[in-house]
Amino acid sequence: MSRRSFILLVVSAVVLAVGVVTTKIVLNLRQMTASGSGSIPGQIRVSPDTPIGGPFALTDQNGRRVTDVDFRGRFMLVYFGYTFCPDVCPTELNTMALALKELGADAVRVVPVFITVDPARDTPDTLKAYLASFGPEFIGLTGSDEEIAAAAKAYRVYYKKAEGTDPANYSMDHTSLLYLMGSDGKIAALFRTEITADDLAAGIRAAVTMSRTAG
Ligand code: NI
Repeated sequence: MSRRSFILLVVSAVVLAVGVVTTKIVLNLRQMTASGSGSIPGQIRVSPDTPIGGPFALTDQNGRRVTDVDFRGRFMLVYFGYTFCPDVCPTELNTMALALKELGADAVRVVPVFITVDPARDTPDTLKAYLASFGPEFIGLTGSDEEIAAAAKAYRVYYKKAEGTDPANYSMDHTSLLYLMGSDGKIAALFRTEITADDLAAGIRAAVTMSRTAG
């Protein structure tokens, strides 16, 4: 091999290696953007095919029957909890309300949905009075024990009456996560409850923007 062709070979190898590395970086970046979870603290990575969420048939705070299909075309920001919850649930609903305010014009695309895990106490009227302090856009959902169990199962939510608490003032143990369901009914993003309103707004905006560019 002549000196010239050896140099040519080395140069070609370097060019090829740089090309491969660059392509890899670009693909990784694209993947990160595709999963909608750049580096927002409190956001849990999920693929849209993760089987979280699904059909439900419940009653809203105005006594109307609603199903998941009624929300198609809009995003649902879903939280499971109960109105007697002393701290976590109200804090979470407040974070949701603040994040929606921060979203500005994009907020019309997102419906905040509170599903009770305590249908025995959370009647439509109770939900209505409770949600009034968080905003008129909030939808509160309750139902029979079976209907709530089915909704919780679809979202993989665990809930149970806490042992040893006063029967009249019992508390509920429950999974505490925020689910952003896409306009197609599939999971679009998942957030931990410790998330700040700023980060939640950023996570929702990223998902909404991505769905808009996807058509
Ligand atoms: Ni709670």
